[in-house]
This record gives sequence, structure tokens and C-alpha cells, in this order.
Amino acid sequence: MPAPPRYGPPDGNDELRQYARLAAATFAGDPETMLAWVRNLGQRNIRLLRAGGEIAAGLCLYDMGQYFGGRSVPIWGLAGVALPPHRRGQGAGRELLLANLCEQYAAGPPLATLYPATTRLYRELGYELAGLRTIARLRPLELEPGQADTALRARPLEAADWPALRDVYARFRASENGCLDRNAEIWERLRHVPPGTLLQGQVFEGPRGLEGYLLFTLTRREGSMRLAMQVRDWACATAGAQAALLRQLWVQRSVVEELTLAVAPHDPLLRGVMHNQDTRIVETLAWMLRVVRVRDALDARGWPAVSAQAEFTVEDPLLPDNRGPWRLSIESGRAKVRRARSAGVLLHARALAALFSGFASVPALRRTGLLTGTARHDAALAAMFAGGMAWLPDYF
Ligand SMILES: CC(C)(COP(=O)(O)OP(=O)(O)OC[C@H]1O[C@@H](n2cnc3c(N)ncnc32)[C@H](O)[C@@H]1OP(=O)(O)O)[C@@H](O)C(=O)NCCC(=O)NCCS
Repeated sequence: MPAPPRYGPPDGNDELRQYARLAAATFAGDPETMLAWVRNLGQRNIRLLRAGGEIAAGLCLYDMGQYFGGRSVPIWGLAGVALPPHRRGQGAGRELLLANLCEQYAAGPPLATLYPATTRLYRELGYELAGLRTIARLRPLELEPGQADTALRARPLEAADWPALRDVYARFRASENGCLDRNAEIWERLRHVPPGTLLQGQVFEGPRGLEGYLLFTLTRREGSMRLAMQVRDWACATAGAQAALLRQLWVQRSVVEELTLAVAPHDPLLRGVMHNQDTRIVETLAWMLRVVRVRDALDARGWPAVSAQAEFTVEDPLLPDNRGPWRLSIESGRAKVRRARSAGVLLHARALAALFSGFASVPALRRTGLLTGTARHDAALAAMFAGGMAWLPDYF
């Protein structure tokens, strides 16, 4: 039998198990849990680099979408990038990621997103920081839930509710740049809670169906009667649902001392509960974005209802078809993407990623030196890519 190529998906169950072992060893995970996770993803979503008769590096892919400008753009979410310790620092990580980028450029979705352990490696490959994931810590005792919306009923989550949760999530998150259009694996992960804990859920139901939900687990604080609540997911598609959700957090106050939830720093839910400056953002993780195919990415996203036109030259050291002058015209929210003859604005692929997500402003990119040249199109670019601070609640 011919040897499998240097780069590609696992060549059967044995390599799948080897990658799961490598990921468990690298990220201090439980080997059985890791194997179940990798099996669930399947061979088609794993990529390996082989060298010297062993796995020199591996990663996995989440084939899903990410909302930009109100539309879901297909992405590969990269995760589990892992090398055995004796292979690190010799270029195998870069080789694996470059091979993956080339594969995606040829036949994958137009964007790639990941949470970096180190930014240098990914910046070299054209990724740039493009949004945040922030976790806040609140004390239910200090919440003031306000008046409940009498048209909404809070009730426990039932198994049959899951499809409706997805609808509520999409209604709620589609307008937020950077939030995932989750695939089945990401939805499934929400249900998998640590052994010995119970996933609990409340839904907020109006006359026309669900308007919000709250999923959480409770854990006992060591040596204490008090509990900590971990909100695994939440969504409020209406003001009434937001009030109901706050109430559900507040009613836990006799037993829950503190709760953590993923929430954007600018989210009205958080602003609403802030009576002073004590609400803590206890964790901030930045994620990176790579515009893998410029034309497809610009065609796929949504745009604000403005009319504007800009020309810019993309500098992409790795992916030739992205390079060169482009003309982007938005007419009442509809985009036309064309090749241009020349353009005096120079936009590095990394700057395009940060601009695309709405994470970096045009003046900020000029300060990085990744956007240079004439300022003639700055106002148009700012108007086109305006859309709120990019963030996403999920970790993958
Ligand atoms: C992080 C990891 C994937 C990098 O792979 P690697 O093969 O060791 O990296 P490479 O040798 O290909 O290095 C590529 C570039 O990234 C830089 N780099 C790699 N690891 C780095 C780190 N931890 N901190 C800063 N820079 C780093 C290298 O210096 C090199 O840049 P240079 O050529 O300008 O010097 C690998 O070390 C690993 O598996 N680490 C443990 C798990 C992990 O952190 N996974 C990342 C999840 S996002």
C-alpha cells in the first residue's frame, strides 16, 4: 500500500486515535473525552502532517458559518492545533497550517477563524486579531430584574425545544459581527457538561413561540453552601426575553453566589445590570480571522444600507488570486466586487481581516502600517465595514 501523503485527513481509525491522543496530551484533556470529540468530528474534519513515520502535527476543522453584516459567511474554524513536544519549534506547525490554508484557498470556505495560543505564527500566515470573547462575573444578589413581561412565560427547557433554540439564537446573533452560525457539533457541545453536573435550561415563551433561553450548570463552591452558576448559552430576541432572563438569574440569589456568562462588553444585558463599576470581565480571549478568498468573502457577507465605493490593492504574500486592485461598490446594501485597474490604497491581508470583522477602524489600521496609501477612500471604507464590535460567545 502506498504511504499516505505528507498532509491530509487521517488514513483510518488508527491515525484518528493517534491525533486524539496527541490532542489530549497537548491540552491536558481526558483521553476518552478527546477520542469521543475527535470521532464526533470525523476523519473529514481532521488534518495531519506526517513525518518520519509519525504524526508531526494535527488540527481539526469546524465547518460552519460566522455572521458578518447580518449574513452567515462559510468558515473553517480551526482548533486543536497540536504537535508532540519533540516536534515543536522546527517549522512543522507552520507547514501544517500553510498546507491547510492552501487546501482551503483551493476548495474550502472563504474565511478561516481561530483562537490563537500565539499570534506570531498565524500573523505570518495572514491572520489578524478580529474580535473578542469576553466572560463577565455577576452576583445574582445585586441584580435588579425590573418588571416581568406578563406576555412571556418562563418554563423549563424540554427536549423538543432544541430546534426552536436554534431559531432564537439566529434571530438574536445574526446581527452581531463575529458570532457563529453554529454547526451541529458546536450545538452538540453545549449539551456535554462535565461529569456529575446537570445541564439545566429555561425558555421564555410568548404567544408566537420562544423569544429567549438560558442554559446553565451549577457547581458547589469548595467548603461552602453557596453555588457558582456557569451560563453555557443564552439568547434574548426581544426586550421581554431579556427581562425574563435577568429575572431567572436573579431568582437564583439564595443559593448562587456568583455566575459567569459570555457577554459582549457593550451588550445591553451587561449595561443593564451595571449599577457601579464592580461587574467584572474576568476573561478576555481574542480570535483571529483570515480572508482566504477575497472576492468570495466580500460577496458572501452582508453590508449596511449605504451607497459607497472604494478601491484598494490587497497585499497577500501567500495567496496570489487575492492580490491586486479591487473595486468594491455598495448600493443600498448590495455589493459588487470587481477587479480594478489600479488603486492607491494598500491593504495587507491582515488589515483586511481586521477591517472585515469590524474589529479595527481605518485610522487604527493606518497606525499599524498595514493600511497605507491615499486617504481618499478612508471614509467609504469606514462606512462599508461599520457594524459594531466583533465578538463571539463560543470557544472552539
Ligand atoms: C504552537 C505550535 C502549534 C507552533 O508550532 P511549531 O511547529 O512549534 O511552530 P513553528 O516552528 O512552525 O514556528 C512558526 C513561527 O511561529 C513562532 N512560534 C511558534 N510557537 C510560538 C510561541 N509559543 N510563541 C511565540 N512564537 C511562536 C516561531 O518562532 C516561528 O516564527 P519565526 O519563524 O519568525 O521564528 C506548537 O508549538 C504546539 O503544538 N504547541 C502546543 C499546543 C498549542 O499551543 N497549540 C496552539 C493552539 S492555537
